[in-house]
Amino acid sequence: MADERELEEVTPEAGKPGEVTMDKIVSLCKRRGLIFPSSEIYGGLGSTWDYGPLGVELKNNVKRAWWQSAVYERDDMEGLDAAILMHPRVWEASGHVESFTDPLVDCKDCKKRFRADHIEGGRCPECGGELTEARQFNLMFRTHVGPVEDSASVVYLRPETAQGIFVNFENVRESMRHKLPFGIAQIGKAFRNEITPGNFTFRTREFEQMEIEYFVKPGEDEKWYHYWVEERFNWYQRLGIRADRLRVRPHAKEELAHYARACVDIEYLFPMGWSELEGIANRTDYDLRRHSEFSKKDLTYFDEEERRRYFPHVIEPSAGADRATLAFLIDAYREDVVAGRERVYLALKPSLAPIKAAVLPLLRNRPEVVEMARNLHKSLRRRWKTIYNDTAGIGRLYRRQDEIGTPFCITIDVQSLEDKQVTVRHRDTTAQDRISRDQVERYLEDKLEG
Ligand code: GAP
Repeated sequence: MADERELEEVTPEAGKPGEVTMDKIVSLCKRRGLIFPSSEIYGGLGSTWDYGPLGVELKNNVKRAWWQSAVYERDDMEGLDAAILMHPRVWEASGHVESFTDPLVDCKDCKKRFRADHIEGGRCPECGGELTEARQFNLMFRTHVGPVEDSASVVYLRPETAQGIFVNFENVRESMRHKLPFGIAQIGKAFRNEITPGNFTFRTREFEQMEIEYFVKPGEDEKWYHYWVEERFNWYQRLGIRADRLRVRPHAKEELAHYARACVDIEYLFPMGWSELEGIANRTDYDLRRHSEFSKKDLTYFDEEERRRYFPHVIEPSAGADRATLAFLIDAYREDVVAGRERVYLALKPSLAPIKAAVLPLLRNRPEVVEMARNLHKSLRRRWKTIYNDTAGIGRLYRRQDEIGTPFCITIDVQSLEDKQVTVRHRDTTAQDRISRDQVERYLEDKLEG
């Protein structure tokens, strides 16, 4: 069996041992191919990030887990993938053209721009200069369709995926023959010209949302609102987030959008403090009523039992794929000491881990050992994202896999040639099992999918 004492020394990034700082996460993400600064060779574009080879796997796993629970495991939900560019009237109906704004002030001296509601003392926080009057700045990115840049060709990059769902309510209901209550789920990019992006991928100008609009009978909205708060809170825990780092924060009356009857944020204890992961709102019948009014299309629902028409009410659980991915990363980050040496590992749920298993031959200069390892990898990769690696000593290979959260390392040694057994090493405990080569698929199936 492979010896943990071969582990090489790891120096965790700046910060107290065991403490999870954003710097440690950013550095791990860059070093290990999870997340890179966007356009880095040109100096980067502020607060814009690219998911690397392992980051795209992790984020896809988060989105897959969400889709699995929101769509596949339910009879009352359908999926959708609406276009990012929509008719500009959509954003008038939704209220975004008029009120999706932040109040901004400019410094008359240094010309820097700030959110008026973030300023204390009425002077520029950078140079102490005099500030302009606050004016409203719309957060939607505007562009033009076609070659003519006039007011008739203006379109917006959607600032939320939700409106694509509302405008397709009737298409989905009719084509899929749903009765209330039912919901539509969508994952997709959204864009906001945020004034104060930051905290790595927590707040960016281009991000991905995972949104559900759940349509219910008026009067049943409160019941379904509480149902979804609990359902979504539990989803994060089922995927491994520790309970003491999650909380539900109800919005105060003055925080509520004018159309919302109630709203909570599911918050996570990020390194910068408690911050929103997901919002869940009871949006009343505002959305369908407004789109009916603006489009002149009847979006009411005919209730066959009650023999009457009404606008369905909407419960909206709205999550961010990037924020959820960041929270899973932060929550999984661990530093410990193995065989007297420090190591960093990601205790991700196996279903979220970018790589499920690494196949590592203990002796890379023994062709029969390498062949057995390569053959095992070939058969595993048909089902899971796995890797073969023989580029370093076993201690270093283990450490690299720990750092990216690979739950299982499978080693093949000389003995494997004779007894047809392999060693499976567990990431969190470093415990090792010796199992038959023929049992590996079954073993992983049980641990990864069981
Ligand atoms: N349709 C409702 C809606 O969009 P929101 O609270 O503005 O509500 C929902 O956004 C979720 O989208 C947030 O909880 C967050 O996870 C994510 N999100 C919003 N703005 C974001 C940004 N600038 N960067 C990253 N994620 C963001």
